Amino acid sequence: EIEKTRVQEIAERTNGSPPKCFIQRESNRPVLDASLAAIPIIDLSYEESKDLEQREIEDSKLRSASSSGELFYVLGHGIPTSLIDEVRNITRSFFNQPKQPLKEKLSYTSDMPNPYFSEGYETDVVVSNEQILDWNDKLLLNVYPEEERNMDLWPQKPESFREVVNEFNEKILILVDVIFKALARSLGLDEVYFINNGSKGRIPWRFNYYPPCSKPDLVLGMKPHSDGSSFTIILQDDQVSGLQVFNNQLGWLNVPVLPYALLVVLGDEIEIKTNGQYKSVMHKVVTNSEKERISLSMFILSELKNEIGPIDELIEDGKPKLYKSTTAKDYGADFFVKFSQGIRPLDSMR
Ligand code: SIN
Ligand code: FE2
Repeated sequence: EIEKTRVQEIAERTNGSPPKCFIQRESNRPVLDASLAAIPIIDLSYEESKDLEQREIEDSKLRSASSSGELFYVLGHGIPTSLIDEVRNITRSFFNQPKQPLKEKLSYTSDMPNPYFSEGYETDVVVSNEQILDWNDKLLLNVYPEEERNMDLWPQKPESFREVVNEFNEKILILVDVIFKALARSLGLDEVYFINNGSKGRIPWRFNYYPPCSKPDLVLGMKPHSDGSSFTIILQDDQVSGLQVFNNQLGWLNVPVLPYALLVVLGDEIEIKTNGQYKSVMHKVVTNSEKERISLSMFILSELKNEIGPIDELIEDGKPKLYKSTTAKDYGADFFVKFSQGIRPLDSMR
């Protein structure tokens, strides 16, 4: 039934009332009024000011957040607020403002979809009958490197779409280096360790759209997961919250909106490479009965041929390797088979 349609259309047809395949089992249903998470804010303006004392303070905040499994916001990233507004505008505009016919959007769906990681306008991949579907639609594009772009899947409308993506991409590539350098320093590695070993190999962007849902207590916008990336940069909706993060002591917490900060979520690649010193972060998305929500997730992934395994320098004295090594290609393939079934791929690497 869901094959040729999208959640947005189902939501419109049913007035936001979710069909059975979206209803979560009781144990997985979200608590909507969860407490707010205290999210550390890392100020990256030292990069511009060259204030090394400030840098040391921010690096230690980064180290503390990363080793305790917290996500964090970055500010002082130097990306103009007007550009951030434009990125949100093209995202809303592609999905729903102004309303585009479903047919128009479906023309950005690939004819030969990779069953687990399809570029283009997509919704949850169905691999089994028991699967419970996420209440979202997405537009996935390989933005970096440029040779990997499939331009026929890039929207023509809004007209500024490509220009805005290109402009934001230039800023994101710089920011990724700044974050990789900070991660490396905070781990006692050479600052350019990650940059020089192909960790910035591929950056797919996923534009996310969550239609209003009349039963937010029974449905999830995105099921609990950690990302397969080294880290993911998320631009959140500036009006509507929905992201929840798992805290070992406190359980699921709501992530507060901070309009011009970018959220950084560490993923499985960094947990494996640091032999568990840094933790990939479990998160999920809840829906909202009144308002639609948008977001943009940019996944920083290694080159496909790269080996992903614990870094020798980071294996502490007397500690065993906690993870096996594999290639980024094999890990990616395994990731999406498991992800769509709600299984955490990292668990099979131990
Ligand atoms: C995600 O990419 O896991 C969710 C991003 C969001 O909607 O906040
Ligand atoms: Fe995620």
